[in-house]
Amino acid sequence: MKRYVILISGRGSNMESLLDAGLPGECAAVISNRPDAAGLESAAARGVATVAIDHRGFASREDFDAALAAEIDRRAPDLVLLAGFMRILGDDFVRRFEGRLLNIHPSLLPLFPGVKTHAQALAAGVRVHGCTVHFVTPALDGGPIIAQAAVPVQAGDDAATLAARVLAEEHRLYPRVARWFLDGRLQLLDGRACLLHEPAATGALHVPAAD
Ligand code: GAR
Repeated sequence: MKRYVILISGRGSNMESLLDAGLPGECAAVISNRPDAAGLESAAARGVATVAIDHRGFASREDFDAALAAEIDRRAPDLVLLAGFMRILGDDFVRRFEGRLLNIHPSLLPLFPGVKTHAQALAAGVRVHGCTVHFVTPALDGGPIIAQAAVPVQAGDDAATLAARVLAEEHRLYPRVARWFLDGRLQLLDGRACLLHEPAATGALHVPAAD
């Protein structure tokens, strides 16, 4: 059976959606860089091994990355899922796991990389926003895009209401992509995400909707 590891930093709702999706694989560990991450408790409640590696205890980013990589390697995972993991990972770490390292980001990349993506979307005045699952490469939020989900930006939205609408789609999108990977349908090939037997998307989201 394939094995996967999930990295979190906080609440862990994406992690929960992955653990609750009945993926064709075993979650070997949930690892947090913050010992107080609420998600560690909900992972343990689901019977998953949890590990906290406090990044504040390391002299350098490289030292933290090396400790994290060693902890992941002990589990020999086929797939590593960043799920609200809010530390920037160095090039050596990313290269070590390249091709089996995925991230979910709360915007339609390449728009709005970094943090405060919902506030960025509102400030830009876009009418469509969403989330992206991508392979992680050394370029921050810049790796090959695998899948995206779009939501409308509604009149009266603030960052919190928009974030909630996007988050609901994150919880649908990430488990779908993880399943493709664990089923052997998804790979990183020549710098592009390749999905076998890709289901065609149909229809379009018009915002405002047509009268
Ligand atoms: C999610 O919205 C995720 O997309 C985002 O953090 C949130 C974590 O929530 N990730 C990033 O911004 C990564 N750059 P969660 O802990 O409830 O899954």
